[in-house]
Amino acid sequence: MTKICCIGAGYVGGPTMAMIAKKCPQVQVTVVDINEARIAAWQTDDLPIYEPGLLDVVKEARGRNLFFSTDVDQGIKDADIVFVSVNTPTKTFGEGAGCASDLQYWELCARRIKEVSTSDKIIVEKSTLPVRTAEAMERVLHAGDNPVHFEVLSNPEFLAEGTAIEDLECPDRVLIGGHQTESGQKALQALVDIYATWIPRERILTTNVWSSELSKLTANAFLAQRVSSINAISALCESTEADVADVAHAIGTDSRIGSKFLKASIGFGGSCFKKDILNLVYLCETYGLTEPANYWRSVVTMNEYQEARFVTTMLHSMFNTIANKRIAVLGFAFKADTGDTRESPAIKVCRKLASEHASIVVSDPKAMDNAKLEMPELADDIEFQEDVYKACDGAHAVAVLTDWKQYKDLDFQRIYDSMQKPAFIFDGRNMLDHDALYKMGFEVYSIGKGRKTHLK
Ligand code: UDX
Ligand code: UDX
Ligand code: ADP
Repeated sequence: MTKICCIGAGYVGGPTMAMIAKKCPQVQVTVVDINEARIAAWQTDDLPIYEPGLLDVVKEARGRNLFFSTDVDQGIKDADIVFVSVNTPTKTFGEGAGCASDLQYWELCARRIKEVSTSDKIIVEKSTLPVRTAEAMERVLHAGDNPVHFEVLSNPEFLAEGTAIEDLECPDRVLIGGHQTESGQKALQALVDIYATWIPRERILTTNVWSSELSKLTANAFLAQRVSSINAISALCESTEADVADVAHAIGTDSRIGSKFLKASIGFGGSCFKKDILNLVYLCETYGLTEPANYWRSVVTMNEYQEARFVTTMLHSMFNTIANKRIAVLGFAFKADTGDTRESPAIKVCRKLASEHASIVVSDPKAMDNAKLEMPELADDIEFQEDVYKACDGAHAVAVLTDWKQYKDLDFQRIYDSMQKPAFIFDGRNMLDHDALYKMGFEVYSIGKGRKTHLK
């Protein structure tokens, strides 16, 4: 029986291992983490992350061939294959601060693996890492006179939060990078065999380790670049009476461009896009590639502009003062169907609103706990209100920041009636029926579409 251990029970490690365990009953999967509360939660029906469909997958395999444990050393020792799926946040100190990946958790894992292993193992990089990290890891793993052999593979995860289960069940592709040596190819084949249990072989791409590492950063950079590109156009639309949704549709029908990832918004969030682009920027700079570094950095700059522009629009349209005005923020998660608030544009929006002394009330169906933790400095000033109608009661403005489907079905007449007049609504996701809202009496603002106003 093949034994897998995954270090890191987070948004990536948890769902990925649950799917492998579900699909491969012949493989024993143990997910380990130093965070005791997280491991305890994985053992209950109140999982530590919200992800549609995840609980069913976990329940099917948990106790059968899927286990969660805080005994990291034992997990590593027993395993044939060790996935490393720990956090690799942006460095906040020293060289590369604000740009480079902080690899301290990764290196600690590598040292632990080396320390406790008594048999040969395949080590799989699951976390997103700078190109050539595998090389550094191999040096750590093979330092000294350890007789154990470690073969490092790169197997980046492309799942998106909110759709993790579909993405894992039926991925566009799985990417595995291995060394072009006999042992490298043997290890690569072992991992291919696991995924091939449920994924058609032609969708399992194999490359060398460096191409695989770089493809992950590149995929996220391209996706984020599309959002920044359409957001740049949204600003131009607002000045020219073009409609960004029409433009996106018109260009998306060109098969060379494609229709996905062209939704103008308040900006992209999430733990990956910004971090991975900055990582790419840092890598380019490290190799002296100034122009490529600047090109990719501009994707992040554009995103920051879009977040800031949204609040500026709110301020200007509300007669240049929002001090003490009640503003209902609907949605705090960085996207729908997740409770994750990491790098959510809502954080920047709330901070900027607070700097204008607005009275903020935040509502979100799944992200309230994380939202409270994101802005400790504002925790006492912000009201958190699960009930959307109570949040909007008496508000001067409503700002929709997350594309939760249920916001489309709200009783906006009831919301309008309970608000101060003129009642403003800022749709940061272009998801509401703007004509209907305007007819009710709302002052309607959106992204990349003309405003609808009753004011002279
Ligand atoms: C372009 C648009 O494709 C077309 O829709 C528009 O009407 C006019 O402009 P064209 O300039 O004729 O058409 O050729 P295109 O095939 O788009 O190539 C433009 C340039 O980009 C060429 O120099 C081509 O070699 C280059 N290119 C294209 C690349 O370097 N890489 C690619 O992947 C694609
Ligand atoms: C992303 C990648 O999609 C995934 O492949 C990778 O493994 C991890 O990073 P994730 O961050 O979970 O996944 O969500 P994603 O759906 O990509 O959305 C990222 C952000 O972009 C969200 O804030 C979303 O609202 C925003 N977005 C996305 C837009 O503003 N417009 C779009 O058209 C698409
Ligand atoms: P991601 O979104 O990449 O999955 P998360 O932060 O959700 O990132 O998960 C990473 C997990 O890795 C966290 O639960 C953290 O406690 C765990 N972790 C970090 N370092 C170690 C380590 N040295 N040993 C075990 N687990 C670790």
